[in-house]
Amino acid sequence: MAYRVIQWATGGMGKNCLRAVIDHPAMEVAGVYVYGQGKVGQDAGDIARRPETGIHATNDIEEILSLDADVVIHAARISPPYGSHDADLIRLLASGKNVISINGFTHPAHWGGERLARLEAACQQGNSSLLGAGLNPGFVGEQLATVATGVCSAVDHVEIVESVSCVPVRNPDYVFKALGFGAKPSDADPNNPSWGPAASLNGMYEEVLAAMAAHLDMALEAVVTEHRAFPATQDLTVAAGLIPKDTIGHYRWRWRGIVGGKSRLTMTIHWFMETAHLDEDQPSLWTVRIEGQPGLVMRVELEKRAGDTSPTSAEQIAVAGTVINAIPHVCEAPAGVMLRPLATPFSDRL
Ligand SMILES: NC(=O)c1ccc[n+]([C@@H]2O[C@H](COP(=O)([O-])OP(=O)(O)OC[C@H]3O[C@@H](n4cnc5c(N)ncnc54)[C@H](OP(=O)(O)O)[C@@H]3O)[C@@H](O)[C@H]2O)c1
Repeated sequence: MAYRVIQWATGGMGKNCLRAVIDHPAMEVAGVYVYGQGKVGQDAGDIARRPETGIHATNDIEEILSLDADVVIHAARISPPYGSHDADLIRLLASGKNVISINGFTHPAHWGGERLARLEAACQQGNSSLLGAGLNPGFVGEQLATVATGVCSAVDHVEIVESVSCVPVRNPDYVFKALGFGAKPSDADPNNPSWGPAASLNGMYEEVLAAMAAHLDMALEAVVTEHRAFPATQDLTVAAGLIPKDTIGHYRWRWRGIVGGKSRLTMTIHWFMETAHLDEDQPSLWTVRIEGQPGLVMRVELEKRAGDTSPTSAEQIAVAGTVINAIPHVCEAPAGVMLRPLATPFSDRL
């Protein structure tokens, strides 16, 4: 029996998830929600560069809620503050659909209080589950680095360093508004938690550290930020437009998880438009560094299959992979918000 899947938002990531669903023999598209008026009515296959499916995109949430589906892949753009999409997720969950988000939700129980209560109540109402997936949030911290501690008899500190060039990212709203590139240094204060990009990202990555801490039985006391913004050393022409010299061309986001008064978990993310401020010339996508006994260093790259000349990046394909592999987990889980499992591997039987 095929999983019936709704794709929510069809930007760079959502389109790839949709394509992965269409291509998968155990999945069928049940619906597509879009924000852009221009995509309303388009066939899912046309959006995903695939043959027609007979399923047409809508921007009517009521239509989506009325569909019979197993799971919704939620790939909307982040907007401040973290949690600003909760209202949509709650309606989807309450309507009986499991939800996979690529924008956090890897350990919603971390927040407790009203927010958790609302999400949990929606899951109970709809007998549904909420699960976070994606690469980061989703994979490198909650799964890869955490599993790697399995060789250690002592763990002092786990650090993840992600380095991603944002030059190919096309959507100007995402690049300039959501991520803050091209802002004047006087307007970009990443350590101000109410500044837009920080307000979106801080909660999301705090939850990653909280998920790691939960798996490692560490009592997370606080998450502190050490973010930095670097002005561009020259005018930069990137896929989303122009980043003038002296406006922000590189963010180094850093969250430190404090356990027992010490920094024991660190997430560092370089999102950059030029390499001038990187610590290494050619950093890996991820370096995981565990200090402990023994220590461990792992460098990870993603590569497309040889001969794949599509414009899709390995990272986009991989985000969709994490989502597809998570579908059986969210569908089989008891109702409720989920801590991202330590492993959601590929299954050759799916
Ligand atoms: N977990 C991970 O590893 C991971 C990796 C990369 C990205 N992400 C997250 O995934 C999200 C989507 O990334 P992307 O590359 O697909 O971005 P994108 O290309 O900018 O697309 C985002 C899509 O969101 C929809 N949208 C438009 N206006 C919106 C609004 N006001 N509020 C919410 N959504 C709106 C649009 O969907 P339609 O075109 O269908 O109208 C748009 O195409 C980002 O927020 C990013 O943080 C997660």
